[in-house]
Amino acid sequence: MTLTVLNATSAPKSADVWLVAVHEVGSSGKPKVAGGADAAFLKSSGFRGKPGETLLLPATDELPQRLLLGLGRKAKIDGAAMRRAGASAARKMLRTYTNAAAMVLDDLPASLTEADAAQSFAEGLVLGAYRYDEFRSEPPKTTLKKVVVVGGGRGVKAGVALGVRIADAVSFARDLVNEPGGSLTPVKLAAEATRVAKREGLKITVLDEKAIKAKKLGGVLGVNRGSDQKPRFIEIVYAPKTYRHSVALVGKGITFDSGGLSIKSGAGMMTMKTDMAGGAAVLGAMAAVAAVKPKVKVTAYVPATDNMLGGDATRPGDVLTFRNGKTAEVLNTDAEGRLILADALSLASEDEPDAIVDLATLTGACVAALGPKIAGVMTNNQAWADQVLEAGATTGERVWQLPLPADYRKMLDSNIADMKNIGGPYGGAITAGLFLKEFVADDIPWVHIDIAGPSNSDGIDGEIGKGGTGFGVRLLLELLDSFKKPG
Ligand code: BES
Ligand code: MN
Ligand code: ZN
Repeated sequence: MTLTVLNATSAPKSADVWLVAVHEVGSSGKPKVAGGADAAFLKSSGFRGKPGETLLLPATDELPQRLLLGLGRKAKIDGAAMRRAGASAARKMLRTYTNAAAMVLDDLPASLTEADAAQSFAEGLVLGAYRYDEFRSEPPKTTLKKVVVVGGGRGVKAGVALGVRIADAVSFARDLVNEPGGSLTPVKLAAEATRVAKREGLKITVLDEKAIKAKKLGGVLGVNRGSDQKPRFIEIVYAPKTYRHSVALVGKGITFDSGGLSIKSGAGMMTMKTDMAGGAAVLGAMAAVAAVKPKVKVTAYVPATDNMLGGDATRPGDVLTFRNGKTAEVLNTDAEGRLILADALSLASEDEPDAIVDLATLTGACVAALGPKIAGVMTNNQAWADQVLEAGATTGERVWQLPLPADYRKMLDSNIADMKNIGGPYGGAITAGLFLKEFVADDIPWVHIDIAGPSNSDGIDGEIGKGGTGFGVRLLLELLDSFKKPG
């Protein structure tokens, strides 16, 4: 299905349903009468106009069917409410309607511009309509073809277009996360990255195994050692005509994590095709960066391999030497993400960007700490972390900061190497962060985002559905767009 979302000046005759925004009003919380609804009917319906709530009104002689969309109280309407409304609308319409006209931009609070509201609503529509049907013999039929956002002044058309571009990038990341590990190999991931980079006019370099050896990426090679699939290292550059600053995006690209010889349980392995979600978020951001047009140069680094247990797999106790010359004793082959990120962060540091951010499905400990919907943020520079926290607050991708206490570093001390790849029984998200910190040049602001929880969802929540969420794509784009060189 391709859903077209456009901006129009009036509701087209072809619309088979109108989407009408409804606010929640009054102290007891009731819907403001809108869309030609009968007040008494509305009162008895139970519909309150809360964010994400919907109510279908039958057609009358004068009006087509109307789907009322709750936006919540007017003063509180924000991008998240618009996205949620768009997503609910898309889910209601997907298999029933073809063309919709959306009247959702009247009566917005002063805190939300029409352009931003239109962008968020378009994002919600596209993401709510997202399905992953690649592996179904008979994909469920959908009917929805087109939604026009009606009215609004300057900027609405561009807002809708940008929303669609960003949502398409999130959908691309979701597709990568949802594709099974036996299908989305590192070679295929690199091919997908190449296709998108070419489409967007971005420079891409893909290192094959020989080039990875030549660059001494010992972490990537160590993790790849148990696999029959060849590793890849993806590098993509976006450079505006003129720029003063540069940002590096690093994403974990484990296309399947069996745990290696420190093998996972059957249940623990079930979702491990999603272990490249950090890489997918970075590639998703690169898929829309040319549309967002931030003023900074952006370089993406995605190390890609699976983590398997072939006959010559890295053994617990083996020592790896990384790109920056440091060594680690691998005491648990299931702590593999940090091993490939060590090389990627080293390479990113060599390019001397003004800031680095990495995204990784790194630890179950982070999920234990923050639950399934909130990502952990760790940093060596508070000003840079503040920008990440702010970007997450803006896009509604929830992040929470964890500390990187220097005295915890000794939990990584090894008897024979510079460090070991696991800490103690507690604080696993933090010791993973401290491991990564060893590979970032001291003077470069860096933020690590552990997305092990929110990269994947087992239920519907606003624009998020079951499976890969594309968490981080919108946050990264917002972060780049509002970048200030951290002090
Ligand atoms: N990919 C996993 C982390 C993960 C767990 C992501 C659950 C999503 C959901 C990572 O490679 C891993 O296995 N981490 C280990 C580290 C441990 C061995 C120190 C973990 O969290 O158990
Ligand atoms: Mn693992
Ligand atoms: Zn992993």
